[in-house]
Order: sequence, then C-alpha cells, then structure tokens
Amino acid sequence: MIWAAALLLIFVSYGDSEDYCYDEPHCDPYAWGDMFPSCHPLLEEHHSPINLDHHMTRNESLGSLHLEGFDVIQTGHWTIKNDGHTVVLQVGSGMSVSGGGLPDVYHTIQLHFHWGGPATNGSEHTVDSRRYPMEMHVVNMKSIHPNVTAALHDPTGLAVLGFFIDVVYADNVHFGLISQKLSSVAYKGQTTKIKPFPLMHLLPKHNMSQYYRYYGSLTTPPCSQAVVWTLYEVPIYISWSQLAQFSSQIFSTEEDAEQVTPLQNNFRHIHPTFSRIVSASKDGRLLAGTSSRPLGSDVSLRLLPIILLGSFVSGL
Ligand SMILES: *[C@@H]1O[C@H](CO)[C@@H](O)[C@H](O)[C@H]1NC(C)=O
Ligand SMILES: *[C@@H]1O[C@H](CO)[C@@H](O)[C@H](O)[C@H]1NC(C)=O
Ligand SMILES: *[C@@H]1O[C@H](CO)[C@@H](O)[C@H](O)[C@H]1NC(C)=O
Ligand SMILES: *[C@@H]1O[C@H](CO)[C@@H](O)[C@H](O)[C@H]1NC(C)=O
Ligand SMILES: [Zn+2]
Repeated sequence: MIWAAALLLIFVSYGDSEDYCYDEPHCDPYAWGDMFPSCHPLLEEHHSPINLDHHMTRNESLGSLHLEGFDVIQTGHWTIKNDGHTVVLQVGSGMSVSGGGLPDVYHTIQLHFHWGGPATNGSEHTVDSRRYPMEMHVVNMKSIHPNVTAALHDPTGLAVLGFFIDVVYADNVHFGLISQKLSSVAYKGQTTKIKPFPLMHLLPKHNMSQYYRYYGSLTTPPCSQAVVWTLYEVPIYISWSQLAQFSSQIFSTEEDAEQVTPLQNNFRHIHPTFSRIVSASKDGRLLAGTSSRPLGSDVSLRLLPIILLGSFVSGL
C-alpha cells in the first residue's frame, strides 16, 4: 500500500512534465536523470559542465582550430528561435571546424546561449570556481554522421566551441545583430529570420589559440557523452544592457500562457572531472591554482535528500 502510494506520488509529480526545466524541483537539472537516464551523474561518468582549474596539463600539439566559412557571409537566411530553454541561432550549411586536435571535420549547425538572472551569472563552465555572466556554445557535428541523433552515439560525435561572455560598458555591435532580434523571440516557440553575417565577428578577435580541451557531454537532456569541448580562454565582451536583454526579455513560457516565467539561470550544475584530463592548448595559460572551494560540494548537498529518501524507503 505504501509502495503503491509512493509510486503514485512519483507518477503524479512527473506526469505533468514531459519537458525539462531549470527552475522547478521536479524538472530542474538535478531531476533530469529521472526523465532522461543518461543525465544521471553516475560515478566515473563524463558529464559537462566542469570547473576549469589548475589541474590541467598543457598539450603542445593543440594549435588553433580551423574555422572554415566563419569569415564570409553565408547565403540564404538563418533562424533565431526561443525553444523554451535557450535562444538558438540555426545556421545553414557552409561552415565547419577542424584541426586543433579534433579527430575529424565538424559541420557547424547552431549556436545558443546560457545566462543568469538580474543578480546572478550564468555561464555553464566555471574558471577557478568563477562563473562568467554568460556562455555561448557553437555546436558542430562530425561530418560522417547524417544527423544529430546518430552523432550522439559517438563519443566524439559533436564538437562544441564554448565562449565565455563578460560585461563591459560599450555595446558589442556584432553581438547586437543577435540581441536586437530577441524581442521577436521573447516567448517559447517563437522564431524569426536573421540575415547571415560572418560568424567570426561574434568571436574574440585575438587569442583564439588559447583554449582548454576535454571530453564531456551535452549540458541539456539527454546529456549524451558525445562532446569534444573546446573552451576559449578569452571572453566575448558585451554591454550590461545586451546582457539584460537575455535575462529579462526572454521567457520560458508561451505567449498565451496564464503565467509568464522569465527564462533565467539556464545552466547545468558543475560535474566532477573524475579521471579525465583537461588540457590547455599550446598557447593556453595554465591557471594559477588559487585554493578555491570545490563546487562539487554543491552537487553532494543536493544528492543528500535522495540518499536519505533511499535509506528511508529501504528502511521500510
Ligand atoms: C594531445 O592532443 C592530441 C590531439 O588531440 C592527442 O592525440 C594526444 O593524445 C594529446 N596528448 C595528451 C598527453 O593528452
Ligand atoms: C559575475 O560576473 C562579474 C562580471 O564578470 C564578475 O565581476 C563577478 O565576480 C562574477 N560573480 C561570480 C560569483 O562569479
Ligand atoms: C539518423 O541517421 C540514422 C543513421 O543513418 C538513421 O537510422 C535515423 O533514422 C536518422 N534519424 C533521423 C531522425 O533522421
Ligand atoms: C593575448 O595574446 C597576446 C599575444 O600572445 C598576449 O600578450 C596576451 O596576454 C593575451 N591576452 C590574454 C587575455 O590572454
Ligand atoms: Zn549549451
């Protein structure tokens, strides 16, 4: 009877959400594993994001990546979409990344963003436990795969280029091409067209040979361990108002929803590196190694209720 009640409770609490979220306990990143088993952070599994710290090895063979087609204006049009979890810019064909130790050529498919709230930073990766205001992910798929579903079954099926975004007083005119469009995709499901521009304009002008490399996962369900991560050391700079357009003008709910919810803090928690090697590129700076509180303790705190519940149930 107690078991039936417990099971019923589980179905009731998960039944109303086939989707994941960032802001409610029944569907937030700590609960993703209940709906998407591959999001369970089991021991020795290789999840993302991670904290980048001084436990890093230089790899002299990691030079600059080759960004093909990033410096020209692609034909056709691109699409910006609010999918309820992020703002995604879907680019057409014509761009690819290779080199820099990547095992193959990867076609660029989209880029999207992670951000915080009015008073919180929202990058996914952290550097010496510091969270940047935002993070941009340029997602590329290994050219041998016909679609993303197939790529997710390959441990190096995707190559994601991660860029930290920091804040200064001046607007970033190139970033403005995206932030100006945000009002057209304020609500979940909305899309708008955007004229292609050289993607290189969005990226840092200098120091692109300075990056970190590790093997990890998608940071959204199904959290597939299929990603070669490249995290650039030097951030992209935007203005406070461009940042605020993300944290205050984008909603995770549809336009006609009874209650509108701003989309904020859409980042997954930090995961342990376990035995993974995190490499600095040939030109990358090795981090100094200030003694910082391991963010992992945050994870174990959140796991505690589950462990307690587990012992409670087995105690029955
Ligand atoms: C350095 O990077 C290359 C290219 O990714 C890789 O083949 C090699 O195993 C790496 N070396 C070390 C020591 O990690
Ligand atoms: C948030 O970002 C700002 C701007 O880069 C930085 O000054 C601050 O230290 C960051 N806060 C945290 C908690 O990482
Ligand atoms: C993706 O590609 C695989 C392998 O060719 C194929 O079996 C599958 O049907 C494709 N899936 C979609 C959604 O197109
Ligand atoms: C960028 O690269 C230049 C030249 O290699 C170097 O002097 C400078 O310190 C780098 N900047 C950062 C922020 O790493
Ligand atoms: Zn992402």
